[in-house]
Amino acid sequence: MKIRSAVFELGAVKPAQWPADGLPEIAFIGRSNVGKSSLINKLLGRKSLARVSGTPGKTRETNFYRINEKFRLVDLPGYGYATVSKTERTRFQKMLETYLTERTVLRRVVQLVDIRHPPSAMDVAVHEWLLALDAPVLVVATKSDKLSKSAVVKSLGMIRTTLSTPAELIATSAETGSGIAEVWAYLDSQLNHP
Ligand code: GTP
Ligand code: MG
Repeated sequence: MKIRSAVFELGAVKPAQWPADGLPEIAFIGRSNVGKSSLINKLLGRKSLARVSGTPGKTRETNFYRINEKFRLVDLPGYGYATVSKTERTRFQKMLETYLTERTVLRRVVQLVDIRHPPSAMDVAVHEWLLALDAPVLVVATKSDKLSKSAVVKSLGMIRTTLSTPAELIATSAETGSGIAEVWAYLDSQLNHP
């Protein structure tokens, strides 16, 4: 994928703010700190278009990035961050649910899990929920630079077993760029043949 333009459009806090021009979307979902914003930056070849922080729970809005005037990448708020208030957590969940069930331009959901740990109960629940919604899912296992090559292979097997999923599974590193071309190849085919 050649990135000719990548523009941060807006951080939405409610559905009324979502762009309404019908461009197709690819959404990124995963727990706080798993590396959603870092993956988006790496995919776009931009250093800090999406805000990355060591403090989990940073991305609270639904952030829309317009790419090549052709499609959008959507950075969804991270789930499972323990210290946010219950009210806020419920608000996130509602927002995610509304987005995933009502967003007709949604072409692909990329669910991120940390390659170093077995998917959490929340990761499994979200994955099952996505499958139940019939949402087309790609699972990305992030931070592969933190493991040896053989540990990456082992971990991918463990992730597939824990999620017990038929979904495509790709290991990535936002540090080294490993797996990024694979993710693009996959998303490209989804954008061109929805
Ligand atoms: P929220 O916005 O809080 O939901 O987090 P996020 O999922 O967007 O995670 P973010 O991209 O902000 O990354 C969280 C932390 O993990 C940052 O310190 C990143 O530098 C680090 N990180 C992300 N991806 C990678 C990776 O592939 N390798 C390594 N080593 N670190 C990573
Ligand atoms: Mg983020």
